[in-house]
Amino acid sequence: MLNLLRCLLLASPVASAVLPRAGSSQETSSDFSKRGVFGPIDTSSPSGVAGGQVTCAAPPVNSFFAGLKAPFPTNTWWAGYAATPGNAVVAGPFPYESALNNTGIQFGVSSSRQFDGTSVKQPTQMDWRASFSEHQGSFSNHKATAFDTQSVTVQYFQGSSTLTAYLVPGSPYMTFEYKGATPLLTSINGGIKSFNGNALSTGASSSATGTTFTVVDSTGTTYLIYSLSSISLVATAKSSGSGEIRASSPFTGVLRLVKLNDPSHKALLDQHYQVYPTTVGLDYSFTDTTSTLIFNWNTIGDGSQLLMLTWPHHRVALQSPNYPATSSLNYLTTKGWMYPILGNQWKLQNALSSIIWNPPRALDSSCKSSVIQGLQYEIGQLNPANAPVPGDFYYWGGTLAAVSRLALIADNLGRPDLVTPVITYLKTSFNYWFQASSSTLPAYETTWGGIVNKAGANNVNIDFGNGYYNDHHFHYGYFLHVAAVIGKFDSTWLSQHKSYINYFARDIINPSSSDPYFPVTRCRDWFAGHSWASGIANGAGSRDQESIGEAVNGYYGALLWASVALSQDYVNYAKMLVATEQQAAQIYWHLYPSQSQTARDNPYPEPAMRNLITMGNVEDWQSGAWLFWGSQRVEIASIQILPVTPINEAMYDTEWVNNVWSYTMPELVDPTIGDEWKNVIIAAYSNAHPQTAAAWSANITSWGSGNTYTNELYFIGTRPNPSGQPICGALPQNPYGNFKLQVASSGNFVTASSANTNLVASTSSSGSASVFNSAYVPNAGTLQLTSTNQFVTADSSGSYTISASRASASSWERFTIRQKIGAASGVYTIKASSNGKFITVGGDGSLVNNGANEAAGAGFKFVAS
Ligand SMILES: *[C@@H]1O[C@H](CO)[C@@H](O)[C@H](O)[C@H]1NC(C)=O
Ligand SMILES: *[C@@H]1O[C@H](CO)[C@@H](O)[C@H](O)[C@H]1NC(C)=O
Repeated sequence: MLNLLRCLLLASPVASAVLPRAGSSQETSSDFSKRGVFGPIDTSSPSGVAGGQVTCAAPPVNSFFAGLKAPFPTNTWWAGYAATPGNAVVAGPFPYESALNNTGIQFGVSSSRQFDGTSVKQPTQMDWRASFSEHQGSFSNHKATAFDTQSVTVQYFQGSSTLTAYLVPGSPYMTFEYKGATPLLTSINGGIKSFNGNALSTGASSSATGTTFTVVDSTGTTYLIYSLSSISLVATAKSSGSGEIRASSPFTGVLRLVKLNDPSHKALLDQHYQVYPTTVGLDYSFTDTTSTLIFNWNTIGDGSQLLMLTWPHHRVALQSPNYPATSSLNYLTTKGWMYPILGNQWKLQNALSSIIWNPPRALDSSCKSSVIQGLQYEIGQLNPANAPVPGDFYYWGGTLAAVSRLALIADNLGRPDLVTPVITYLKTSFNYWFQASSSTLPAYETTWGGIVNKAGANNVNIDFGNGYYNDHHFHYGYFLHVAAVIGKFDSTWLSQHKSYINYFARDIINPSSSDPYFPVTRCRDWFAGHSWASGIANGAGSRDQESIGEAVNGYYGALLWASVALSQDYVNYAKMLVATEQQAAQIYWHLYPSQSQTARDNPYPEPAMRNLITMGNVEDWQSGAWLFWGSQRVEIASIQILPVTPINEAMYDTEWVNNVWSYTMPELVDPTIGDEWKNVIIAAYSNAHPQTAAAWSANITSWGSGNTYTNELYFIGTRPNPSGQPICGALPQNPYGNFKLQVASSGNFVTASSANTNLVASTSSSGSASVFNSAYVPNAGTLQLTSTNQFVTADSSGSYTISASRASASSWERFTIRQKIGAASGVYTIKASSNGKFITVGGDGSLVNNGANEAAGAGFKFVAS
């Protein structure tokens, strides 16, 4: 259900190693040690993986990591610096976006914000390039010298001349450290209009000496240039409409450039430019109910005076922040306003959910018999002989994870007899991942470092780009969910396969730079506060994530795995990832029309954007209510909600689900829209309105591959229930048993036979009527002609007479039979699941599934036989 094509970028960033790598620059003001950071889950080689080793067809640009060793981050904001061809415009360091050029680093702040009816967009803008005169322009003369969980240090070099850029998200200044190199700043956005207040005509130059300079380009964009030691600069307005600022001689020192949005911002910037961050250390601490995520910037200068910028998700979580006035410095970005903060340590606190396997309350007794009936039916359908052979990670994972929840529900309801068949089925399918003879295999990819779908390592169209590191948290979250459930009930299997399955856990939640095989928490962008689905395909430029629900599930799967296979530390770590991803969902994916346009922490000031209720895709330079693969409201909302698991109790907040309910209502009552989306909306709504959701859930006859009837009703029946009323009430059911079908209006009976399989109301004689067995399927039933054992089928066109002509029953053989509204008791309508239309009776007595609504459906009596 995820994104199709385009380039399939879905992922999340990440990055880094907590310790600086070889060659990294000095750390000074604060301790860059590992402190409380957790050690690796495992450090063993993933050489045992069934697909062996592969190399991705898009390895890192080979000079970029010179001197550093894999594993490398693939989903981080700066992946485009490293991924071939290495010059993509990347997603930071915000408020800037940047690109590595052959001669230097280009960067800019988008000065245009547009709302086009669907998306807010801030198209990337490159304002300046920082380089030095001695650099001769060979693209291989730059490299990364260090990276951590948030930042990367990039160095341009020529002989002994170097320019080292500390690319640290959240810094209002771009920081360039020169050694024996003549600074050269090139204006890209337009020519130079003025330098230190002197207007420059074309061809003219102006020079100045000092530590603070102001330059305005021909579009009016103003930058301040700070030097930490005195420097002489010459600005020249070139004839081409471009301009440059060149130092008069080689320089050893630090320049900081900052976009000046408003003259009043200069005062704060003047005060703090001398303290700069070089790297960031990640730390965290836990109580039973909270996590505190800690960012420690290593600075040159007094760390307490470090000026940084916050986003809304920071501000709602920061403990004891030291904020200058929001008016003193601000930048509008696709995540809303960035506002200033002082200090080199942030503590971001989140509440942790106590939920692990099951909801925190028992199933409402009113729902129990229906849930048990569904459980027995759905588990009865699981024949290990038909357990899926994996063809990919994504669909296999979503499907099997949905099945695995049946075991948890059976266990929770005290039915161990029903757990065993589920586990047998799951193991049968899962075991293909361990066998080298399988057609779809995991393999260890060596150029970046990670487990991929082997066939995808040189084909981005396989498994949504898994081989190019797209979507790993989506894919492996489902995978770990399934493994955790098997392991919970089969400790032999768990111990046998634990280190193998840990490869997948390490791929998405490895907390440590000491794991030699996997980067730190691949998809998480720690500064952006959420994950990116995009890996290294297509040059790894813009980042996106269009399924926050599956991102949460990635860490939920890891949480389940940690709780069955790993220590409490990893349980805590996974809980923190879940809580922070859910917080990002509520801030950046859920839209609230009630939010004030001027609220400090409203990321989307445009009311018309917030009226769209849910983001489909959050990217670095745009976010909008659209998907790569679908345009229905129920699709856009569902993909942010699913899969339906107990961990989402906190994320399905009342205001949002109420809005989603009314926003999607035109589609919820539209029979042409699929139940596989509607059921997800109903589940989210149940978190606030369980009785209403239960009644609506009875309309659903298809749950898609990622949910089941049982899980849906169990979820609804385990919601908070402040009214205390029974949640399920009397859920309607088909009449089950052997019946003759009589048309209420004419009194004629329906016949069908092996000679004429069509169902036609052709006889007034009860003795000539055919007998149909009406059997249970969830919320509906099948009708089987007893004389031939054939099931009645209704195709989705609704143009043909329905017929008793299928040896086995699938989705087109399902019917919902309900009391007809306004008719005498015992008169029913029959609705076909194939198209949501009601059965009518034609002039010739033919039964056709073409009644647009309940009123149009014919009334039938089910006469017991
Ligand atoms: C660097 O920028 C120049 C001018 O904008 C451009 O012509 C050149 O292709 C860029 N180099 C790379 C490697 O992107
Ligand atoms: C579904 O069920 C609810 C509650 O029983 C009902 O009000 C609603 O009209 C139904 N919608 C459809 C499309 O059948």
